[in-house]
Amino acid sequence: MEAVIETNELTKSYNGTKVVDRLNLCVKEGEIFGFLGPNGAGKTTTILMVLGLTEPTSGEVKVYGYDATRQPLKVKRIAGYLPENVGFYEDLTARENLTYITRLNGVKDKQAFAKIDEVLTEVGLLEVANLEVRKFSKGMKQRLGMGAVLVKEPKIAILDEPTTGIDPKGTDQILKLIVKMSREQKITVLLSSHLLYQVQRICDRVGIITKGRMIAQGSVDEIGNKIMEKEQTLLEIQVSKLTPTLLGSIKEIEGVKDVESSGNRFLVKCSQDLREKISRAIVESGALPLQIKTQNYTLEEIYIRYFREG
Ligand SMILES: Nc1ncnc2c1ncn2[C@@H]1O[C@H](COP(=O)(O)OP(=O)(O)OP(=O)(O)O)[C@@H](O)[C@H]1O
Ligand SMILES: [Mg+2]
Repeated sequence: MEAVIETNELTKSYNGTKVVDRLNLCVKEGEIFGFLGPNGAGKTTTILMVLGLTEPTSGEVKVYGYDATRQPLKVKRIAGYLPENVGFYEDLTARENLTYITRLNGVKDKQAFAKIDEVLTEVGLLEVANLEVRKFSKGMKQRLGMGAVLVKEPKIAILDEPTTGIDPKGTDQILKLIVKMSREQKITVLLSSHLLYQVQRICDRVGIITKGRMIAQGSVDEIGNKIMEKEQTLLEIQVSKLTPTLLGSIKEIEGVKDVESSGNRFLVKCSQDLREKISRAIVESGALPLQIKTQNYTLEEIYIRYFREG
């Protein structure tokens, strides 16, 4: 798959402090990419540089081959952007707000109207199309924001925190809409969030950013495994009979760092998954393995590690 957003050592400093630090981001055509990290990690700053709305201190951004810093208008034409705090004209209706956007984009009303109705249907707002936005809930406004992206028929949608502050039902609606626009309209999606747990399920790949640095990029599984490789694996084992000889032979297996036992159960800390070797040692001691559980790094743990501790 081809990379459609690519940053190369992208850096942004404010008053000498790097808030985005040599970032290499790669979003491939057609995927939903989750750009995830805690508050203040540098997500919005990166997005603004990708859109050509903020100039990098150093490094570069390419969007469909266009240099976002030098050719921001080219990028603007192909990218739909949902900002962190989406704003509409409160006294105008949903339909009027979208019409305002299509006019800004130079689309004739006659052409635009059918598209606007199609989009309002898509985001579930057709019935309230003639209601002033002032009367909209936060979830409705956010869906109208998605509509504002869709009405542009972009190649790429860049969504900054599309689910923040939305209740679970509203979040679900937004996430479903993102999946739909990706599948049906083949729009590449870059979405940012500080809620890894909430959005990861719809992402093909994610990038985790903290303190301006990209610390991991790949599928959620790949990232989980990478973290596991670096860390210790914990095996919880139950055997039919645990003898001191067996404990001794397990301690001798290469890669085993620590063994703790209680009754016929024991916990093995090791630098890799040693289930096979340990099973063999158990059988050779004359006992049987009754249960071997690995403790994998769950998303919850990745979350705690990178998002709470930051
Ligand atoms: N215009 C600016 N001037 C000075 N500092 C800024 C500016 N914009 C952002 N920052 C700082 O850069 C850092 C990264 O901010 P950014 O908004 O990119 O983070 P974020 O990942 O989007 O966070 P959030 O999840 O809260 O939206 C923060 O420490 C912020 O205070
Ligand atoms: Mg932000």
